[in-house]
Amino acid sequence: MKTYPIVAGNWKMHKTPNEGILFVKKTVNMLLDIQKVTIIFSPPFTTLFELDVEAPFYLGAQNCHWESQGAFTGEISPEMLVDCGVEFVIVGHSERRHVFHESDEWINNKVHAVLNAKMKSILCIGETLEDRESNQTKSILSSQLSKGLNGIKSLENIVLAYEPVWAIGTGKTASIEQIEEAHQLIRSELQKDFSTEESQNVSILYGGSVKDDNARELISIEGVDGFLIGGASLKAESFTAIARNVEQQMKETI
Ligand code: 13P
Repeated sequence: MKTYPIVAGNWKMHKTPNEGILFVKKTVNMLLDIQKVTIIFSPPFTTLFELDVEAPFYLGAQNCHWESQGAFTGEISPEMLVDCGVEFVIVGHSERRHVFHESDEWINNKVHAVLNAKMKSILCIGETLEDRESNQTKSILSSQLSKGLNGIKSLENIVLAYEPVWAIGTGKTASIEQIEEAHQLIRSELQKDFSTEESQNVSILYGGSVKDDNARELISIEGVDGFLIGGASLKAESFTAIARNVEQQMKETI
C-alpha cells in the first residue's frame, strides 16, 4: 500500500538550536490541519536533540555512522539518534558523496545500520551535470541504487530521493520529463531485486530547487511521492506552502 506523500526539509548546516526550536514551533502551528502528508524536519544534530514532535511530524537526521559506538571522533551512531526520537535518516546525500567523499560501500553500511536500529532510511541518489551530459544518468542511478541497497531484503523502511546534483541549490529544477524518466527508471531497477509490489509502492521523493511556486506542478508528476527540500525548508512560509500544495494534490487525486 502507498503511504502518504512525504515533505522532508533538509536544513543542512543552518539554524542554531534556539532558531530551530522556534522554527519548528511556528511551522507545526501553521500546519495543524494537515492530514495526508508526512512532514519531516531534518535539522543539524545540535537542534535535532532539542526537538520533540508528534505525527504527522517526524524528526530526520542528515547522516549517521554505521557502528553503534567506538573511536569515531565527530560521529553519531544510529542508537544515539533513536534515543532522541529520530525516525528517518538521510543517507548518501550528494553533499556527503561529493564534498565528504562517502563511498557507496559506506552508504550501504549506513542504510543497513539505520534499518537495524528500526529507523527508516532516505537513500539519496542523483547524477552530476557531467554524468547527464555524457549520457551516464541511467548507469549512475542504477549503480548508486544497487550498491546503496546491497544486501537489503525489503523496501519496507526505505524511502528513496532522486536529487540531480545539478539541480541542488541552483534554482534549476529538472524538467517534468527528466524527473518522470528518472523515477520510472528507479522503479524498474528496483524490480530486479524486489517484488513488483514493493517497487511500485516505495516512496520516491524528488529534490533539487523545490519551491512553493513549483511544488504543485512537481507533485503531479507520475511517480513523485514527495520532496526533499533544502533552501525552501528554512522558511516557515515556503515550507508550509509546499506542504499545503502536496496535501491539496492528495485530496484532489483521492
Ligand atoms: P535545494 O532545495 O536547496 O535545491 O536542496 C535540495 C537538497 O539538497 C535537499 O536534500
